[in-house]
Amino acid sequence: MKPREMYKKRKDDKHKREINSLLASLVGKKKRPAIVLDARNLNTKNALVKAGFPALKIHIPNPFDFKAIRKKHRNTYAQKLGDFLNQESGKHSLFYADYCCTVDGNADMKPMADIQTYFRKQLADNNSYFAFTFSYRNMRGVNFKYEDIQRIESFVEQTAFKNGYAAIKHTGRIYSGMFFGLYNIKKL
Ligand SMILES: C[S@@+](CC[C@H](N)C(=O)[O-])C[C@H]1O[C@@H](n2cnc3c(N)ncnc32)[C@H](O)[C@@H]1O
Repeated sequence: MKPREMYKKRKDDKHKREINSLLASLVGKKKRPAIVLDARNLNTKNALVKAGFPALKIHIPNPFDFKAIRKKHRNTYAQKLGDFLNQESGKHSLFYADYCCTVDGNADMKPMADIQTYFRKQLADNNSYFAFTFSYRNMRGVNFKYEDIQRIESFVEQTAFKNGYAAIKHTGRIYSGMFFGLYNIKKL
């Protein structure tokens, strides 16, 4: 890796670390399961477990890196997030949709459909947390920089409301081409 790439990676890792420990501090003691997009390093899972959240209550759908993740974590599914949500039931303490795509997704990733499914199926517990990470566009497909942030924030609030929830913004951050948003979800 070139020195500039290493510097960027270190900065990205710092953001990820801070985000994962924030999520863990909010839901570590909650009782309902969590759904997270995690990668083979299991950063999110490890942060949650360190905060006292039981590993067996963490569900990780990931067909792209299934074998490597499944070796380290039992509740890993060879399913895309959307397929996992379609067959999931019950209430959840946390849904961390840590995407690496833009808000409009691609052939494999359908963020808006996933968010709709989560709220339509009433999968969020009262006083739970919902978080996302996306990469933002500042050239093609948008009228202004950070337009995607406004679009997805409005989409989350409206989708939650249509399904009987309030999505209350807790915090957010923008870092090296990505943005993160975190909501406290209350049942209305
Ligand atoms: C950004 S990484 C997760 C990083 C991790 N949460 C952390 O804090 O370091 C997202 C992972 O989820 C996978 N992924 C992305 N979209 C997905 C989807 N729709 N269904 C299942 N897995 C997905 C990606 O392939 C990747 O392994």
